[in-house]
Amino acid sequence: MSLCLQRRSVRNFQDKAVEEEKIEALLTSAMQAPSARNQQPWEFYVIKNKKILEKLSTISGGARHLNGAALGIMPLIKHDVPAPDMCPQDLSAATQNILLEATNQGLGAVWIGVYPKEDRLANIASILDIPKELTPFCLIAIGYPSTDDSPKPLRYDPSRVQVIE
Ligand SMILES: Cc1cc2nc3c(=O)[nH]c(=O)nc-3n(C[C@H](O)[C@H](O)[C@H](O)COP(=O)(O)O)c2cc1C
Repeated sequence: MSLCLQRRSVRNFQDKAVEEEKIEALLTSAMQAPSARNQQPWEFYVIKNKKILEKLSTISGGARHLNGAALGIMPLIKHDVPAPDMCPQDLSAATQNILLEATNQGLGAVWIGVYPKEDRLANIASILDIPKELTPFCLIAIGYPSTDDSPKPLRYDPSRVQVIE
């Protein structure tokens, strides 16, 4: 089955570290994402510190899964690029690549929405010192899944498709 169909959000994790080579594979896939004008407008914080993960788990209701994750990856937008209006799309592509690579590595992961929610951005700024040229895009909780979740049923719906010939 393709990685796209296997991937699902995983929100519960084993108390087990993720190997360095797997973290590097996640970041390698992230940076292989397409981007407008190949501008690659991203940086990535890899957060392993449990106290910081616990704090970040309070930035929104949906962020609580960071508490218990082996690590969090925070992709950040770099604004000083040729097509800044395309940054959210570029960062989304990089984030999805991380989720797919996590599936490929036998890891679980969930995308936690941040940008453009002002309250979440302010909450992050109260926890981490973020340079002004960067804006957090999202958080991804990552670890070995603690439950054996099977892939989700297919959401394919042909009524959502119009073929223009
Ligand atoms: C932009 C975005 C923001 C999301 N934010 C959260 C979140 O804050 N917390 C969470 O648990 N899941 C979050 N998700 C995951 C979705 O809830 C999940 O992808 C959706 O329910 C479909 O389930 P699946 O990923 O298992 O297919 C987010 C997904 C996206 C794309």
